[in-house]
Amino acid sequence: MDARGPILGVETSCDETAAAVVTSEGTVVANTIFSQTVHTAYGGVVPELASREHAGRLPTIVRQAMETADVGWDDLRGIAVTAGPGLVGCLLVGVAYARSAARARNLPLYAINHLEAHAHTPAMTAPGLTYPYLVLIASGGHTSLVVVERPGHFHEIGRTRDDAAGEALDKVGKLLGFDYPAGPQLDRIGHSGHADAVAFPRVRLASGPYDFSFSGLKTAAAFDWKGRRDGRRPEVSLSDWVASFESAVMESLTSTLARAADELKIATVGLAGGVARNRRLRAQVTAWAERTGRRAVVPPPDWCADNAAMIASVGLYQDALRDSASADAFPGWALGTPYPGL
Ligand code: KG4
Ligand code: ZN
Repeated sequence: MDARGPILGVETSCDETAAAVVTSEGTVVANTIFSQTVHTAYGGVVPELASREHAGRLPTIVRQAMETADVGWDDLRGIAVTAGPGLVGCLLVGVAYARSAARARNLPLYAINHLEAHAHTPAMTAPGLTYPYLVLIASGGHTSLVVVERPGHFHEIGRTRDDAAGEALDKVGKLLGFDYPAGPQLDRIGHSGHADAVAFPRVRLASGPYDFSFSGLKTAAAFDWKGRRDGRRPEVSLSDWVASFESAVMESLTSTLARAADELKIATVGLAGGVARNRRLRAQVTAWAERTGRRAVVPPPDWCADNAAMIASVGLYQDALRDSASADAFPGWALGTPYPGL
């Protein structure tokens, strides 16, 4: 073990098998991601298949990351692994692997919260950014607004009441006949469309000022799409329809983020999670920041979706487990709460 050496990150909480190597200074020297494709035919992630894929692929993905970084086990300062939240069988594959590797090589083991890692991504992208910052975490499983007071200290001020933003995109995309996950395809098709072609509702909740809701929009979209198909509503091009729907989802995210930054007087905002790859969302948030003199940190796409570089980066500021052999998976581990296995 080299106490000042790089850290190995391992991420297997859902359907990305990922490993990364990050130096003590926070430089990402390898970020290897395998996005599982076995789920495409099922319209969503099948937990059992995801676990099996992780078990089969993880050793190779770790080896690739270490080869890219040109490091051996003895060069590492430790291993950071996602311990929750996520799918329990998937988490267990990563945790069991990291636990064994840490024991075999006598390396410290860091149990990382997946949401904390997403929330940390803006700080990883813009080292030296000022705290507190406000981060929007939008993925297939989560949609939250989080104030990051300082590394490791979080305050969730809003969350979705029903579907996650990515879930709404994936479900409406499925209705349109797209494979899972539909988000990237909607981004591609909607990019050239006119976002004002179809007037979708914008939801503003009466209570919970920074909460989100996407189920009403999802139902309205399904109803509208059916109307276009059976001729009850005038035809619009697919790209205009998708642009309008996508824009309604992204505007709800952007306007809530902007309002929270205004009201709480937070000058720096950031994006995280798979939906933060969306070009419309990235452009909306960047334009708002320019207009209002705020700083928007928009991480590179590979750091938005699930990855292990963000896991390793959190390992750099967190304490190692006292007993790595006891590391476990915690599917419901809430952001901002201590590691449940202590
Ligand atoms: O963070 P992530 O990779 O996995 C978790 O859910 O934790 O996020 C996946 C979600 C999916 O819903 C996917 O459709 C969405 O992110 N997504 C996108 C784009 N790329 C991925 N949504 C909109 N535009 C994209 N370019
Ligand atoms: Zn995630």
